[in-house]
Amino acid sequence: MPLYRVYGPSASIGHSHLGVRRDKFLEVPQIVWGLNNQKIAFARACLTARMLNRTLLMPTLSASLFYKEIDRLDPIAFDKIFKFDTFNSLCNGFIQLGHFSALSNLTAPFELRKGSGRKWSVERDLEQLEQFIKDPLDKFEVIRVVGKNPFLWHDHWPVKDYAKVFECLVVVDEIADETTKVVSKIRERGSSLILKSDGAIQTNTPFVAVHMRIEKDWMIHCKKLEQRSKITQICSSKVEIINRVAHINGLRKPVVVYLAVADSLLEDSSLLSGWNEGFYPFEKKKLGVWEIYNKYPYLIQSAIDYEVCMRADVFVGNSFSTFSSLIVLQRTQKIMGMGSTSSGMNLKWASYAYNILGEYEGPRRWITNMLDLSLNAISYGSNNISC
Ligand SMILES: *[C@@H]1O[C@H](CO)[C@@H](O)[C@H](O)[C@H]1NC(C)=O
Ligand SMILES: *[C@@H]1O[C@H](CO)[C@@H](O)[C@H](O)[C@H]1NC(C)=O
Repeated sequence: MPLYRVYGPSASIGHSHLGVRRDKFLEVPQIVWGLNNQKIAFARACLTARMLNRTLLMPTLSASLFYKEIDRLDPIAFDKIFKFDTFNSLCNGFIQLGHFSALSNLTAPFELRKGSGRKWSVERDLEQLEQFIKDPLDKFEVIRVVGKNPFLWHDHWPVKDYAKVFECLVVVDEIADETTKVVSKIRERGSSLILKSDGAIQTNTPFVAVHMRIEKDWMIHCKKLEQRSKITQICSSKVEIINRVAHINGLRKPVVVYLAVADSLLEDSSLLSGWNEGFYPFEKKKLGVWEIYNKYPYLIQSAIDYEVCMRADVFVGNSFSTFSSLIVLQRTQKIMGMGSTSSGMNLKWASYAYNILGEYEGPRRWITNMLDLSLNAISYGSNNISC
């Protein structure tokens, strides 16, 4: 069997004979909507390719958020956001990405149209996929899934498989550098505050990031969700969020709070008022980093905010937000990766859900259950805009 070199150097890393086939490919439709939706959709495409033992042809993401107007989706290559080679080396043996130039084009792609509608169950979807592992369909060099964005496909994989894919997603240097600029600005603000209050000079000042979802669209969405699911702890007002953050047990003050909010809220100055003593809230504009974000399309802005929230010492989000949930999933992985070396009151990498009441009137401590068998719990929100 010929093994095409999918791309240069890292094709030789690891045990290529044990991993995913590099002469069979899966092609998926353009990945759309919010950053979190796109990440989940990408992971789902990866896991489908893995099931079929095929290399996933590098998918196209969408730079803008216009999810209703197909012609305004602004396609952007995956490797403009995430490192291609790094992905393949971190996911080596598990998932493989390939370039279209690796195709021999000896046969035309086989088009796989995913079923839809009420009768198209998870089981039927799985049965359909299973047909593609067998001859004659397995013989096709390329299987091209046509139709729906992978975010809307049925899900067949446990949380830990998704988590593994997310671990292999590393943002390109440009995005990482912009994140570093934003985080330095936040820590600088913190250092100057702490200097004023107790005279000590501190360099790597900790900060709290709050993914504050209080914009109009979200409020309408979450109120409906509360009615439908008969759960009352989904929507949190600004006052409730501020109050819960103020009661995080063991948090040292003064402290800088970075507010990751939708652009529509940047004009709302009331966001920055009403915070308890010792809490210093900043959003992009007040922090003076709006220029950093402003030069990029939606997807990159969102990716920077995501990375800022990832690097925060303490993160507080809404457990019904996909964006918050993905951040907590990755922070949980980070903590697990470090092992539980710390004992007692260590707030480093702690995450909280402000919409759920926890201890001492504070927000509930939040860790992702990696053993969950489905990503459903964090992916049902579909067109959510992110922070
Ligand atoms: C994929 O196919 C290759 C080559 O046939 C094989 O060695 C490998 O075990 C397969 N991987 C899986 C996960 O089935
Ligand atoms: C096969 O087709 C793809 C996409 O049209 C193209 O990029 C690639 O160069 C072709 N490969 C060969 C070997 O001609």
